[in-house]
Order: sequence, then C-alpha cells, then structure tokens
Amino acid sequence: MKLIGIIVCAGLTLFTTGNLFATDDPHGTTDAIYCDQCHITHNTLGDILVNATDSLVSTLCLSCHTPGGWAGMSKVLSSADKADPGTSGTSHAWDVPADNSARGAALPTTQVLLDHLSADNKITCATCHDPHANSISPFLRLDNSADALCLDCHSSRNMSSVKTYTGQNLSHPVGQTLPATSTYHSTPLDVDGNPQPSDGNTTNDLSLLGGTTVSCVSCHGVHYTDSNSGTVDGP
Ligand code: HEC
Ligand code: HEC
Ligand code: HEC
Ligand code: HEC
Ligand code: HEC
Repeated sequence: MKLIGIIVCAGLTLFTTGNLFATDDPHGTTDAIYCDQCHITHNTLGDILVNATDSLVSTLCLSCHTPGGWAGMSKVLSSADKADPGTSGTSHAWDVPADNSARGAALPTTQVLLDHLSADNKITCATCHDPHANSISPFLRLDNSADALCLDCHSSRNMSSVKTYTGQNLSHPVGQTLPATSTYHSTPLDVDGNPQPSDGNTTNDLSLLGGTTVSCVSCHGVHYTDSNSGTVDGP
C-alpha cells in the first residue's frame, strides 16, 4: 500500500504534466522514453503500476529489450536466453525464486535488492537494475566492480578460505590476489594460444580486478554469454 501511495503521488504530480522524460539516459531524452511508457496510473495490474499485461517487471523490460521491440534496440534479450541452470540459456535467470540453495543463492541482504524482488520473492530485471538511475552503469543497483551484487545473493560461493581437512579448496577462490610468479598461473591465453587479447575477441577475456585479483566476473558473464571462449558474445 505504501508503494502505491508513493507512485500515485508521483503520478499526480508528474504523469499529468504531459510527457515527462524518465530521468537518466538512455531511458530518457536520447531515446525519448517517458514515465508513461513504463507506468500506467489506472486499471493496471499489481502493486507497481507497470505497463505490462501480467504486471511483471521482466515482461515490461522485455517489451522493449527484445528483437523487434523498441525501434533500433540493440541490447535485446528474450525468454529463451534465460538460464535454466545446467541445461540452456545465455543470461542470468529472472522470474525465479531468489532463494535457491542448489545454486548457492539465498535472499539478498541489502535493502535495495530486497525492496525490488517481486511480491513472491522472485528476481526480476529490476532487482539488479534500477530503471530510473544510471549512476552505476548500466543501471545497476550495486557497484559490481568487486562482486558486491553477485555476492549479496551468492555469499556461500565466496569460498576463498573454505578448505577440506586435506587442505583442498571446496570452491574456486575469489577475492584472492594471484601470486606474481608463474608457479600458480601464467598470462591468460586466448583460443589462438597467444596471450589475450591476441585473438581480437575481448568478450571472453578473463578480467582480474586491478590486474591481479580473481572475482566472480573474471569467469562468469551475466548476459549474452554462451560459455564458449571461441565465439564472440553479443550484442
Ligand atoms: C524503463 C522503464 C521505467 C521508466 C521510464 C520509469 N519507470 Fe518508474 N519504475 C519502473 C519499474 C520497473 C518499477 C518497479 C521497480 C521494482 O520495484 O521492481 C518502477 C517504480 C517506480 C516507483 C516506485 C518506487 C521505486 O523506485 O521503486 C515510482 C514512484 C516511479 N517508478 C516513478 C516513475 C516516474 C515519475 C517516472 C518518470 C520520471 C518513471 N518512474 C519512469 C520502470 C520505469
Ligand atoms: C520503452 C522502452 C524501454 C523499456 C520498457 C525498457 N528499456 Fe532499457 N533501454 C531502452 C533503450 C532504447 C536503451 C538504449 C540501448 C539500445 O539502444 O540498445 C536501453 C538501455 C538499457 C540498459 C543499458 C544501459 C547502458 O548504459 O548501456 C539497461 C541495463 C536497461 N536498458 C535495462 C532495462 C530494464 C531493467 C528495464 C525494465 C525495468 C528496461 N530497460 C525497460 C528502452 C527501454
Ligand atoms: C542477477 C542480476 C541481473 C539480472 C537479474 C538482470 N541483469 Fe542485466 N545486467 C546485470 C549486470 C551485472 C550487467 C553489467 C555486466 C554485463 O553487461 O555483462 C547487466 C547488463 C545489462 C544490459 C547492458 C548490456 C550491454 O551489453 O551493455 C542490459 C540491456 C540488461 N542488463 C538488461 C536486463 C534485462 C532486460 C533483464 C531482465 C530480463 C536483466 N538485465 C536482468 C545484472 C542483471
Ligand atoms: C538477487 C539474487 C541474485 C543475484 C544478485 C545474483 N544471483 Fe546468480 N543466481 C541466483 C539464483 C536464485 C540462481 C538460480 C537460478 C534458477 O533458479 O534458475 C542463480 C544462478 C546463477 C548461476 C547459475 C547459472 C547456470 O546456468 O547454471 C550463476 C553462474 C550465477 N547465478 C552467477 C551470478 C553472478 C556472476 C552474479 C553477479 C553478476 C549473480 N549471479 C547475481 C540469484 C542471484
Ligand atoms: C575460476 C573461474 C570461476 C570463478 C572465479 C567463479 N566461478 Fe562459478 N563456475 C565456474 C565454472 C567453470 C562453473 C561450471 C561448473 C560446472 O558446470 O560444474 C561455475 C558454476 C557456477 C554456478 C552454477 C553451478 C551450480 O553449482 O549450480 C554458480 C551459481 C556460480 N558458479 C557462481 C559463482 C559466484 C557467485 C562466483 C563468485 C563468488 C563464482 N561463481 C566464481 C567458474 C568460476
């Protein structure tokens, strides 16, 4: 109810003053996107007044971010891209319960993510993205440069110091600085066998924080990743 109140107030002052541009580009003046392309104030479904037939945030996002959606759109996704772990997909899942111990995921702890799960605690596009503000590009709710977004749900995968009694790591370490010697690692190679980025395909280069530290996104992509280092990931 509180949320409806806030939106209706915003609606009364903003939605009725004509076509108001959404605040941050590219959801703004550049692509001529108005509040009411994403929101409707009356006769809508659900509690967030979004302009989607089923009131789901992801349906709203995909109505533009889909092939043939918003004119000239290049950053497209479709339901078929959504990861079905171990089976298919090229993009992190949405519209799935945020709590999934089989995938090392629990409900997020940061309020800004908790506030933007769906009413039944599912992840939506807007759990990770803030459609109104591009202060952390691309429209992210948390700065993920040191895995803060990933680790908020997947903290159980933060296993840099968890070992078995034999001293074996239980999971690949993250947040660890690689020793600067070739004892443990050499320069990451491309599929052509030369140091990256020699093959010209930068979408599969391992990126190390500060050039030395392993993070989740050294190995994992979020969207458009086909888990094949020989091919270029779109768009
Ligand atoms: C690109 C789509 C998009 C545009 C453009 C947009 N919104 Fe939103 N807005 C959303 C979504 C999605 C939510 C629900 C987020 C959630 O909680 O999951 C939302 C939520 C809100 C809320 C509830 C509080 C919050 O931040 O969650 C208010 C108020 C709001 N929008 C006002 C506006 C106003 C005013 C404009 C124009 C200046 C605007 N919105 C433009 C997508 C959009
Ligand atoms: C009315 C159409 C529209 C809707 C609805 C919409 N977007 Fe967008 N979005 C755009 C356009 C246009 C761009 C510019 C990218 C392009 O041209 O390919 C964009 C860009 C983005 C970007 C990339 C930003 C950057 O800096 O590169 C993200 C992330 C994004 N949108 C997320 C979302 C999310 C999440 C939702 C749902 C809450 C959403 N969008 C809903 C039209 C839309
Ligand atoms: C688990 C968190 C998460 C979810 C869920 C998520 N995204 Fe993203 N998204 C990210 C992160 C992190 C990035 C930036 C890293 C990247 O581009 O790989 C990103 C990047 C993007 C971009 C920019 C891609 C580019 O190449 O510039 C778009 C557009 C986008 N997301 C749209 C969406 C839409 C639409 C949905 C829902 C259908 C969605 N995202 C769901 C985390 C998420
Ligand atoms: C809001 C919580 C949340 C956030 C934030 C989040 N995840 Fe997830 N992640 C999940 C859930 C839940 C699943 C299980 C998806 C399912 O049920 O299909 C999952 C699944 C995965 C998978 C398995 C996909 C597959 O196809 O096997 C990977 C890999 C992953 N996440 C990596 C990441 C990375 C990297 C980030 C940061 C960019 C991230 N996650 C952010 C909740 C989250
Ligand atoms: C050194 C590379 C590497 C790093 C770093 C890494 N991962 Fe993974 N991860 C993988 C690989 C490879 C797989 C696939 C394993 C398989 O198929 O059995 C995987 C699988 C996963 C899965 C799905 C498998 C399952 O158990 O369901 C999740 C979720 C995941 N990683 C999350 C994370 C998170 C979160 C981080 C950061 C804390 C992270 N990973 C760091 C390489 C890595």
